[in-house]
Amino acid sequence: MNLTQNLSDFIKSAPTAYHAVGAIAAKLKSEGATELDEKARWTLEPGKSYYVSRSGSSLIAFRMGRKNPAESGFMIQGAHTDSPALKARLEKLLSGKGMDRAPVEIYGGPILSTWLDRPLALAGRVIMKNQRGQAENRLVHTKMPIGVIPNLAIHLNRDINKGFEYNAQTHLPVLLSASGKTEAATVSGLQKLLSEQFQIAPDAILGSDLYFVDAQGPAILGPAPELINSYRLDDLLGCHAILEAFCSTDAAEHTQVACFLDNEEIGSRTAQGADSSFLRDILSRISALQDESPEDFYRALAASFSISVDVAQAYHSSYPEKFDEDYAPILNGGPAVKVNGNLKYATDGDAEAQFHLLCDTAGIPFQKFMSRADMVPGTTIGPLTSSITGIKTVDIGAPLLSMHSIRETAGILDHEYMVRVLKRAFAG
Ligand code: CO
Repeated sequence: MNLTQNLSDFIKSAPTAYHAVGAIAAKLKSEGATELDEKARWTLEPGKSYYVSRSGSSLIAFRMGRKNPAESGFMIQGAHTDSPALKARLEKLLSGKGMDRAPVEIYGGPILSTWLDRPLALAGRVIMKNQRGQAENRLVHTKMPIGVIPNLAIHLNRDINKGFEYNAQTHLPVLLSASGKTEAATVSGLQKLLSEQFQIAPDAILGSDLYFVDAQGPAILGPAPELINSYRLDDLLGCHAILEAFCSTDAAEHTQVACFLDNEEIGSRTAQGADSSFLRDILSRISALQDESPEDFYRALAASFSISVDVAQAYHSSYPEKFDEDYAPILNGGPAVKVNGNLKYATDGDAEAQFHLLCDTAGIPFQKFMSRADMVPGTTIGPLTSSITGIKTVDIGAPLLSMHSIRETAGILDHEYMVRVLKRAFAG
């Protein structure tokens, strides 16, 4: 199967971070990797692959090196599984005057207007009481559109094209049905829907993390075609590139580590995010199981290198004033190394040089992203994982348009370049 089709299928299976981790785990398992539980005792063998997930939305995979980490270090690659979204408030239904609406709250920083007037599906996880009375996680994805957030007609807001501030409490509830009744319904529309579509009794639902997501899958665009347009390219592009690179590389001297971390969009400071103990816990555990001395763990960290793979602002010809043209990556020009004087990205001169060498060896072009000197760029997981582990890190990303829109646009060729350089890095 070609890489673009493979990417498209991966995206279809990953409408939320929970689904992304499910799809990544399934692929790793099919490639022979062994699942580990953080609560169990581990035994690790050289050359073998393993993966461990935390909270159902973050996952770290690793393949043991032929040499101990103290000798050859860890080669780490990381991306994030979450994207800006609208999270459903399950229990409540706003009902009356012919409209049944499900209230939401905003997760991360979406371009809100892009969520309106689009068919939305519901996806995420439900924690339900099973027949033995225990809590059990279940992934749900309606796939079919189940709602829409209708805009106000332009006749009632003539200035809407001058910009409109949407209020999360009042403007964003999702229209689920037209009841034709003026009085309020009693059962939440979403609970009813879950019980009908997934045979989950409303009183069996103990907890949930559900999101309204784009119901339309990825589109491959252009006459060539050279572009991909989809939900969650930030950062499923990074997740998929790392997964492909990891699965298509053999064991090397160093231990290869692939991180897929949740909660980047809200600052990563959670039990399973980049600003948590997760990565360091796994690295330290791998080291401890080699009968290494405590000192050897520090030697392993010092011998390691990390690549943080997110997306980068692609040059947008309609808004030239927003870019420093000499540091604005173009679509299909190759992955961008992301640099900032105040280290919003982890990249320093040394890390940039390492990446430069990697691209040369992989035979791919690369670009450099820096924001205008009078603007502050975003940030990503690189500065967090590097400060927690002390590992030299480069921040890179595929050029992307419309970052944080419900549908973003990227170049197909950039994804191929990205997979090639990441494979090169894992191979060593
Ligand atoms: Co991102």
